[in-house]
Amino acid sequence: MKNNLVIQTMLDHKSIRKYTDEVPSDEVIKTIVRAGQQAPFASQYYSVLLLRDRERNPYKAPLLFTICVDSYKFELIMAKRNWKLVTNDLTLMLFGIQDAALMAENMAIAGRSLGLGSCFLGSALYRAEKIAEQYDLPKRVFPLVQLVMGYPAEDPPTRPRYPVEFTLFEDRYPKLNQDTVSKAMQQMDEGYLAQDYYRNLNAKIRLENREETFTYDNYSWTEHICRKWGQWYPDPKTLLEQLEKRDFHITRKRQK
Ligand SMILES: Cc1cc2nc3c(=O)[nH]c(=O)nc-3n(C[C@H](O)[C@H](O)[C@H](O)COP(=O)(O)O)c2cc1C
Repeated sequence: MKNNLVIQTMLDHKSIRKYTDEVPSDEVIKTIVRAGQQAPFASQYYSVLLLRDRERNPYKAPLLFTICVDSYKFELIMAKRNWKLVTNDLTLMLFGIQDAALMAENMAIAGRSLGLGSCFLGSALYRAEKIAEQYDLPKRVFPLVQLVMGYPAEDPPTRPRYPVEFTLFEDRYPKLNQDTVSKAMQQMDEGYLAQDYYRNLNAKIRLENREETFTYDNYSWTEHICRKWGQWYPDPKTLLEQLEKRDFHITRKRQK
């Protein structure tokens, strides 16, 4: 494989969940955000909030970024040009998520290149209204994901990924046979188990309607992810409600 500083920085990525007391300077923060902004965008449909309160940070990191899909700001621009939104909110949200996610990951990479570690937090989606209150968000701003950041106080190994052959399909989508699927699962499961990942995080998802037979000796990544998407959030209502409260109406056509 080819290598250089950028590739190595990306290959070195690992989520960091323990942080030193060192506080990143304003210059470091600005650099990270500027590098984030330089990600490609469909319409810069995002805003980033920063909280420097270690006590309110889930991993006691010095920085907590909240990356929001932001239609409010864009609508101010449209109003100045005497335009009104016509595009439906589902389309705007899907494009907005792409803009926001690309920016967020650029920030994480920039942070790592400057010696900082980070970890995404997916719970923002379900705490949107609480976050909106905390940060005084106008309607039409939706907190998508949070990113904690700071100088690492741990150096875990990098976590495995699927084999490239289970990820990159050239020319046509292949017929995936049992063997290919098993191989991909094995690479992930053995990798996470070898690191004692879930034992260290103490993060076994409780089974809702089955008897527990797994211990941290065999509770692997595919077991974890199956428990998550095999038990949680069957009803889209919870998320739709969060979106509606932020004035995003995903299931409706916009009135001209
Ligand atoms: C959208 C998203 C949400 C995530 N949510 C959480 C979270 O709530 N808590 C956490 O500790 N890690 C969270 N992570 C980090 C993943 O667990 C982590 O990226 C994954 O296990 C791969 O490990 P690595 O980042 O160390 O390579 C999240 C990552 C993403 C992209």
